[in-house]
Parts: sequence; C-alpha cells; structure tokens
Amino acid sequence: MSSDVSHKHAIPRHVAIIMDGNGRWARARHLPRTEGHRQGVHATRAAVRFCASRGVEALTLFAFSSENWRRPAGEVNTLMGLFVTALEKELPELESRNIRVRFIGERENFSGKLRSRIDEAERRTAGNTGMHLVIAVSYGGRWDIVCATRRLAEQAAAGSLEPGSITAEMLDAGLSTAGLPEPDLFIRTGGERRLSNFLLWQLAYTELFFSDVLWPDFDASELEAAFGFFARRERRFGRTGEQVSRERA
Ligand code: FPP
Repeated sequence: MSSDVSHKHAIPRHVAIIMDGNGRWARARHLPRTEGHRQGVHATRAAVRFCASRGVEALTLFAFSSENWRRPAGEVNTLMGLFVTALEKELPELESRNIRVRFIGERENFSGKLRSRIDEAERRTAGNTGMHLVIAVSYGGRWDIVCATRRLAEQAAAGSLEPGSITAEMLDAGLSTAGLPEPDLFIRTGGERRLSNFLLWQLAYTELFFSDVLWPDFDASELEAAFGFFARRERRFGRTGEQVSRERA
C-alpha cells in the first residue's frame, strides 16, 4: 500500500465503510432485523455506484465480521443468503461498470454455494480495470495482521528472511488488502465510534467520519457529506501544517 504525501486530491482514493445500523432501522419500523439487512443491500448498491462514478479507486465494505458468527443462526443464514443473492443479481452491473471484486476474510466457514459465487465474481471481474470493490466477510483486522505475521515468521524459520530486516512494507504486502492504496476515508454509520476490528493496520492515517445515520438511510447525500468532510481535511502524515502548505504551493 502507498500513502499519498499530502492531501492533493479532493476525492479519496480508497474509502472503507462499516455499514452499521440495519437492525435498528428495522426495529424502528417494527420489522424483523433481517428486513434491515435487505434494505441495507440497496444502500450498498448506491454506495458502490456513487464511489465508482466519483473515480474512487477502491471501496472496502465491512459486510460481516469474524465476531458476527455469534449472532442468532437465523440472522447469520439470512445474511449469507443475501450475499449469495446480491452477488448473483449485481454481478452483471459490476461487470458492465468495469469493477473488480475481491473478497477478504476467512472463507472456510462459508457454504459451498457462497464460495462458488465468490469465486465466480472474482474470476469474472479479474480482468476489469475500474474500481476495486473489496467485500470483507468473516473478516477481522487482527486475523489479517496475524496471517501476514505468520507468513513472515515462516520465511524467517525457513532461513529465507532475516528477522531484523522485516519492514512495515513487508507486513503490508502480506495483508489481504495488498496492492491497494491505503484507505483515505473511513466511514462508520449507525452512531457508534469504534473501529470494531476492521482494517486495524490499514487505517493508521485514515480520516475518520462517523455518522449517526443508519446504514439503510445512508444515501448519496450522506456520502456527499462524508466526501465533503474529507476534502476539508489537511493530511499531514506526521509533518507540520507549514510543510504541507509549502509542498502544495
Ligand atoms: C450491521 O448492522 C450490518 C451488518 C452486520 C450486515 C451488513 C450487510 C449488508 C448491508 C448487506 C449487504 C452487503 C453486501 C456486501 C451485499 P447491525 O445488524 O449491526 O445493525 P444494529 O447495530 O442496528 O443492530
């Protein structure tokens, strides 16, 4: 991953979103929580269209965390079913928009059906050159860091890597987001102000935008507000404001 020196672009290169609040959206309407997730799919589609049309290079969506397996079985099944259906339904549009799909997370626990849909979506969009759509399912930031660390430890144990020569870039290259720019803008909807084990390493310098709006209601105007917030930030990456201004001039 590479980090831009200062904030020269008003448009974030990589946007990462925790789509929170589906359950509360449904409860407020006396509907089952699963109905909130169904509505959440519409907001997800709108976010993909918005980001692709703005020239965002990568959009990473937290669809299901490692911890979400603890939810009631019925809700987990509905969510897994929604992912299968959404992939079937949305794939033609993703293909026509030149979007590249990548799933990150532990796939071992998925049904064979979901795994084959994921493989198909990744395979059919692999040659595309537009926005990367990264969908985090059964994903945890600590898991990601552990996997990358394990790979380096294996190389060190095999004698092909000197432990003292390990760099942040090497660890970065072993993460599931390898090859993508660092997230510039993080958005969490639904009122909580936590990272909840999302892209822990990758969010080191990211601008954080928290919204009280519940995910099913997070439409283009809300995204516009998040992008506006980002455009007003000065990104210093550890330097002084004066240094940044000088480089901009
Ligand atoms: C959090 O809301 C949301 C989820 C755990 C699921 C997110 C999934 C979607 C938006 C479905 C569409 C995704 C794709 C990739 C097709 P919550 O249930 O934690 O809400 P609450 O905090 O109000 O209970």
